[in-house]
Amino acid sequence: MARGYGLMAGMLVVAGAAVLAGMGAGNAAAVRPGQPASVGQDREIWRELLREHEKIVRVVRFSAKGVDARTESGDPAVAGKIIEHARAMQARLKSGQRVRVWDPVFAELFDRGEAVVIEIEPTDRGVRIVETSEDPAVVRLLHAHAMGVSEFVRHGFDAAPKRTEALREGDPEPPSEVAIGGVGHRVLLEQPTAEQVALLKRLGAGVLVNFRKSDEHPAYDEKAAAGANDLDYCALPYAGGVELDDLIITDGRAALTAGDASSKVVVLHCRTGNRVGPVWAAYRVLDKGVPASRAFAEARAMQMVDPLIESVARDYIRRNGAGGDATGGWRPVAVEELPESVKPVYKTAVEARDAMYRRVLSTLMEAMTGQASEPGSAIKVCSEKAPQIARAVARERGLMIGRTSYKLRNKSNGAPTWARGALEQRPASPLAFVNEDGSVGVTLPIKLSGMCLMCHGDPADMDPAIKTALAAKYPDDQATGFAEGDLRGWFWVEVPAK
Ligand code: HEC
Repeated sequence: MARGYGLMAGMLVVAGAAVLAGMGAGNAAAVRPGQPASVGQDREIWRELLREHEKIVRVVRFSAKGVDARTESGDPAVAGKIIEHARAMQARLKSGQRVRVWDPVFAELFDRGEAVVIEIEPTDRGVRIVETSEDPAVVRLLHAHAMGVSEFVRHGFDAAPKRTEALREGDPEPPSEVAIGGVGHRVLLEQPTAEQVALLKRLGAGVLVNFRKSDEHPAYDEKAAAGANDLDYCALPYAGGVELDDLIITDGRAALTAGDASSKVVVLHCRTGNRVGPVWAAYRVLDKGVPASRAFAEARAMQMVDPLIESVARDYIRRNGAGGDATGGWRPVAVEELPESVKPVYKTAVEARDAMYRRVLSTLMEAMTGQASEPGSAIKVCSEKAPQIARAVARERGLMIGRTSYKLRNKSNGAPTWARGALEQRPASPLAFVNEDGSVGVTLPIKLSGMCLMCHGDPADMDPAIKTALAAKYPDDQATGFAEGDLRGWFWVEVPAK
């Protein structure tokens, strides 16, 4: 990260005590005009944020250079206060007006203000603040300070009178994490090392929950690391939506509610946060009464990006909520008989399918005809780009989407729970499902064209290089032996209720 000016459009850069630019154009509407709040006004803003802390979600990434933190709220009034507070804080750095002088981490950080570069970027829902320093001792202060702010988000007024936990020389970088307002449990965005597990213990952790499979990190015995630090350990390994069964979600919820009952802080992690999301959303909705929209926004903040695991989590919540039953509230409706109110949602699903299909096809064509065209790169398009495209389309359109088949190449391309039974009949035309909560599910058949046969046709006719590459990556491949015009599988789309 460079020091000084012009790091990102719309970013405001403070080098030490000198403010170099006004609030950027990034989100002018959310930024109040006029002077930043005075210390007195800012104290009021801060108290308001502590009062409203349950509406705040904070994503903090730690690095050897400093901290990258996003503090946001779905409530526009709270988001506005977060921005105002950031502005006031920045002005205080300029004027040297201190706060929390009794708290050593804050006091020392103010003393070392010139060694810190701060960039503030307003976002749609709050701010992103990037703080860096060249001095490792100052970086430790930045890390400790950022963790302290996350404690305010988690605990509000209860955290305010407590000293911020300092970090010592030799301490590891804290693991990147998401702090959810009003919840003491911690969600990590990465695999913690044994040293980080020890640090988490010092910060008050009582239980460690790991969603990774042991073969993902064979060199490291996390159970032993937990034991060495006197932490309870719970392994709930799964790889994707197909392996995410009810037991994993139920056990994860049980770990969290047991933590609540015994006042133990539960630390949850996988490799990125994606696999923590379903358990988190189910716990929030079913055990804490939080609305699903908010619970899933929190799960997305912890990087739950896989559309299939989101769909499985939503179905679990429907089946296990008050009045829920084994159907999860789904019923099939013939596409020709869809009620007027559902037709636009059906159209949304078809458009998402079209968008995904177009993008996969054009990426595939590019890989097959491009200069660097070779079987390996075209197969990569299908194995890597197709899931990425699905995630992107899902994110952009606020829905879930994927591909599945009755003869799978990749076992993780399973169907959502609501479609599994119906797809056993291998429907050759579109199916629609309507949920009592207003969600709509659609499956749309995929037929093979001539170009698909290169990788899905009769193995006797396939290029040996492709066969070798496929066999290496997909030892259980079932997706060959098709002919042009055959049913290959289905796109599935789930549009959540508004
Ligand atoms: C260059 C080789 C290649 C071509 C050409 C190709 N595919 Fe695939 N296809 C794959 C690979 C590899 C996967 C596994 C992707 C993954 O890991 O998710 C796959 C997966 C699929 C899936 C997901 C279900 C499953 O079995 O995992 C569908 C559906 C599918 N392909 C349809 C098609 C259609 C339709 C075409 C023609 C338009 C096509 N493919 C062309 C290589 C190819």
